Amino acid sequence: MKKMMLLSPGPTAVPDRVLKAMSEATIHHRTSVFEEVFAQAREGLKKVFQVSSDVLILASSGTGAMEASVSNFFRKTDTCVYINGGKFGERWGEILRAYGVNAIEISVEWGRAAVVEEVASIVEKEKPAGLFFQASETSTGVRHPTQEITKAVKEVSPDTLIVVDGITGVGVFDIRPEEWGLDVLVSGSQKAFMLPPGLSFLWASEKAWERANDSDLPCYYFDLKKEKKQQAKNQTAYTPAIGLVLGLKESVSMILEEGLENVFNRHAKLARAARECMKALSLELFSEVPAEGLTAVKSPADIDGQKVVKHMRETYGVVIAGGQSHLKGKIFRVAHMGYVFESDLLAGLAALEHTLHDLGYPVEFGKGVGAAEKSLAEG
Ligand SMILES: Cc1ncc(COP(=O)(O)O)c(C=O)c1O
Repeated sequence: MKKMMLLSPGPTAVPDRVLKAMSEATIHHRTSVFEEVFAQAREGLKKVFQVSSDVLILASSGTGAMEASVSNFFRKTDTCVYINGGKFGERWGEILRAYGVNAIEISVEWGRAAVVEEVASIVEKEKPAGLFFQASETSTGVRHPTQEITKAVKEVSPDTLIVVDGITGVGVFDIRPEEWGLDVLVSGSQKAFMLPPGLSFLWASEKAWERANDSDLPCYYFDLKKEKKQQAKNQTAYTPAIGLVLGLKESVSMILEEGLENVFNRHAKLARAARECMKALSLELFSEVPAEGLTAVKSPADIDGQKVVKHMRETYGVVIAGGQSHLKGKIFRVAHMGYVFESDLLAGLAALEHTLHDLGYPVEFGKGVGAAEKSLAEG
């Protein structure tokens, strides 16, 4: 018998209250009962997204909403710019090219954050139809300066649609789409929303919806205009992921009961504590500007990061993530996103100390955990 704890940057832990809601007998979606649940989920979602207009709920993982952001708002002849500072930034380029859109990459060394002036100068030169980036690049644990990029881009190219992947940003830290002038913001269920994978969310500005009328890229399942029309009536174009929608209604309620600002503060506090722990263990953070949802750490020189992940999971039951692509073996990532509280993080960090010790890294037991406790106590 083993008890497992998820401290991975998705999927994240699902609260009992959400599990219970999802375990109810399946309701039929073409009924007023479903419509009531859907309406409540939509209302809550709008608040968590901090927007006044609809957030669409799609039955897909986060990449589905990323793809829909390309296929619904752009044209075959468009040129778009994307920031590639990690695995998910790279994905924007892959999706744009899959639809035949001319995609210009702004390459940011993985682990670094995008530089606002550089982005603005490329956008000023290219005047792209869209700029795509991540609020939080989960593969490197970096937070890109969303507000600052948006402001600078609006000044040099007001027609450029700003498309932001907030998959590990929404519900983790403050993102204000309408106030800052974003055009599309996407997220996914298995991160701060504390749900299993399977739902993605997409909000678009009025400007983006106008642009959707001119889009000539192919879409069928992710025809957002069709979805928008249906969802305004608390229905969906196709069979929704009913169980997940039941869970979503509950999870957004939980987030709003805690209070969005408190949720952001909790994430920031946990992130600070995790970073202090790593420093106290003489481990180097990988991210230049660390995001609040996860902490990416360079694995000690003679220890394979994948081994850290495997040993921690198999011996101590704590699930963290390794590096992706060329970062495989080089880093490991501890998430503190969603349904994670102080005691969860402290237990996870203690397991990390044990893991590193077992793998031969010199650890003074309690040094990292102590630094995290001190940081948490300071608030
Ligand atoms: C920032 C970011 N973008 C995109 C994705 C892809 O989402 P999914 O795996 O749900 O398709 C992830 C998943 O980890 C992510 O963290």
